[in-house]
Amino acid sequence: MSKDKPSKSRVLDMEQKIVISCRELSKTFSLGKVQVPVLKGVNLSVARAERIAIVGSSGSGKSTLLHLLGGLDHASSGSVQILGQDVQSMNEAQRGNIRNLSLGFVYQFHHLLPEFSALENVAMPLLIRGMKRKNAQPIAAAMLEQVGLAHRIQHLPAELSGGERQRTAVARALVTKPDCVLADEPTGNLDRNSAQALFDLMQQLNEQLGTSFIVVTHDLTLAKRMERNLKLVDGVLTEGD
Ligand SMILES: Nc1ncnc2c1ncn2[C@@H]1O[C@H](COP(=O)(O)OP(=O)(O)O)[C@@H](O)[C@H]1O
Ligand SMILES: [Mg+2]
Repeated sequence: MSKDKPSKSRVLDMEQKIVISCRELSKTFSLGKVQVPVLKGVNLSVARAERIAIVGSSGSGKSTLLHLLGGLDHASSGSVQILGQDVQSMNEAQRGNIRNLSLGFVYQFHHLLPEFSALENVAMPLLIRGMKRKNAQPIAAAMLEQVGLAHRIQHLPAELSGGERQRTAVARALVTKPDCVLADEPTGNLDRNSAQALFDLMQQLNEQLGTSFIVVTHDLTLAKRMERNLKLVDGVLTEGD
């Protein structure tokens, strides 16, 4: 489905003020006979164009929470809604569809395909949607220009710096104009300056495109740059200080 010609449901989606929410979300992993409760009733509502940081110690369940919010894993109990639609009641195909239409993901490791250029990597989500290469590539090039990489579009990931690779990963996450980007420690492998630059970029894109961002980070200084700071402690989210 093209965003240029919105369907009726897409127009309704755009009116949704809350892009992602969860209610009493819990997740317990079973390791043999041992039950490991990780999330114990998380409540969260993410408004359109809001920028949220989630901090928490290692192993507190931040990645688990992002996976559940992104429809990549099943909750033990509670609910997740993406654009007002209940994720748990969707089948795999429907979940894949809403992920592809509404969400973008950025990880600590860029996950760019090594044999493809920056341009081809950024165009990939559009090709997966069924867009023709000749239509996808100009859109991908414009997105790379927006993240300051117009001069690097033909480079392979190995020919980019760490910061440039993460900017490419952000461009790939945003090329489909998602409602919300979920980023899991996106600056985890970057030096201070590159990490600052990536947060600058996310803020700029948030303001230009109205995309919501949920960013997990263990860097409290970077977290403070987001509008809302939340902390995952003992399996629940609390407002940060
Ligand atoms: N697939 C899994 N199976 C079993 N335990 C898991 C699994 N994924 C995560 N965990 C456990 O859940 C806890 C939270 O993990 P995670 O969400 O990755 O934490 P964080 O991202 O905050 O470091 C950890 O104790 C981890 O070992
Ligand atoms: Mg993690």
